[in-house]
Amino acid sequence: MPTPSPKIDLLHAATKAAERYIETERAARVSPAPESIEALDQLARVTLDAPITATEALDLLDHVGSPAAMRSTGGRYFGFVNGGVTPVALGASVLATAWDQNGALPVMSPIAGALDALAAEMMVDVLRLPPESIASFCGGATLANVTGIVAGRDHVLEQAGWDVHTQGLAGAPALHVIASDEAHVSVLKTLRVAGIGSNSVTFVPTDELGRLRVDELPEVTGPTLAILQAGNVNTGHSDPFRAIIDQLRSGTEATNLWVHVDGAFGLWANATPNRHQHVDGVDLADSWATDGHKWLNAPYDSGVVICRHPKSLKRSMAMDAAYVETPDHERAPMNLGLQMSQRARAIPLWAILATEGRAGIAATIEQSCQHAERFAELLGAAGATVLAPPVLNQTLVRFDDDQTTDAVVAATQAAGVCWVGATTWQGQRAMRISVSDTSTTAADVEAAAESIVSGWRNLSA
Ligand SMILES: Cc1ncc(COP(=O)(O)O)c(C=O)c1O
Repeated sequence: MPTPSPKIDLLHAATKAAERYIETERAARVSPAPESIEALDQLARVTLDAPITATEALDLLDHVGSPAAMRSTGGRYFGFVNGGVTPVALGASVLATAWDQNGALPVMSPIAGALDALAAEMMVDVLRLPPESIASFCGGATLANVTGIVAGRDHVLEQAGWDVHTQGLAGAPALHVIASDEAHVSVLKTLRVAGIGSNSVTFVPTDELGRLRVDELPEVTGPTLAILQAGNVNTGHSDPFRAIIDQLRSGTEATNLWVHVDGAFGLWANATPNRHQHVDGVDLADSWATDGHKWLNAPYDSGVVICRHPKSLKRSMAMDAAYVETPDHERAPMNLGLQMSQRARAIPLWAILATEGRAGIAATIEQSCQHAERFAELLGAAGATVLAPPVLNQTLVRFDDDQTTDAVVAATQAAGVCWVGATTWQGQRAMRISVSDTSTTAADVEAAAESIVSGWRNLSA
């Protein structure tokens, strides 16, 4: 007789609840019904002084939690840049949770260490970045930006004869920082965290698609950090990397330059034969931030930083203590990023990369781009204004005026067939449609477009 295991019993209960949820992820409305949100009040009845059993906790999550979840994995969620989760990533993630490995050091978990190293190599390869680069996994693109930008800051200041580790930042040589006026908010926060105030950043103007204007680049001399973008969060368009980097590197005075690319979703364009021209020259940078939880459809907490200068990354991120010493040749995740203890994040990423392969990833990225194009076609044909021609997975449209646009977004969200967000683009309200769940089908796009257009027609009627 096997020994009874509460873990297995609860895992079965959780799997059953997950099964019930997954069965509704395509059928039910995308956003929770108002009564499901109201029912969340029941959760507050459980207090520290009146705890419940484990079975009761799972029951609450099943009956109160699942109905209030946003069905962002069922093909018709187009909000923010929130991806879905692929079947193999879900399965691998469940197993990885059962393993509960600490991914900080290979000695803590041989399996986590092995998959971390393999997934990191595949990541550099599939994104077609320079082979000497090293990848490391972190919580998201914000943290990947912090990691890459801090490594770059330390590197250029070191080249200028200043050691941030011992000397700090006060009194350091002036660091020139260039970013576009369309830099993502996570970059602005990163700069703050890195001790770089916005007054010392040159924000270069962008064009009508949100791309940094090469003709507006400042002359650079001395230690310089340039932060570029693959995939504007509204338009999906990217900075002209080759022209920018060539111009910055050909400055009249010798330049000590580090280029970091925020490519939270846009970097994936480089993995496809049909779209990589939209990020031409991105491989000329020194570090890159991207996400597995956006377009790759890994579970959340799947950021990736990639750095062309492994020694510089390690120098900025390493922690040394006798009890966590690692041999020099060994890849230790805690010395390649900000965290020490960490979920073994590479496991679901490895499962996706290993099963989809180069061709599969290229095909899913391409498919999302085609869906975004179809949205523009359908909504444009219905009379909406397409504000930027889709090149990746973002479609940006507007209906009549600001007020109508906001009303169409609200009506679409309330109808529940799909979920889309609102934004302000160059002073005008717009609807943002981000095709980031790779389970979206052509039929989902048609149904979503129909719901959007009928919401608009109902408003006019
Ligand atoms: C261009 C860009 N950079 C950075 C981020 C931040 O990514 P994360 O939410 O994974 O920290 C986002 C999120 O949407 C993004 O679109």
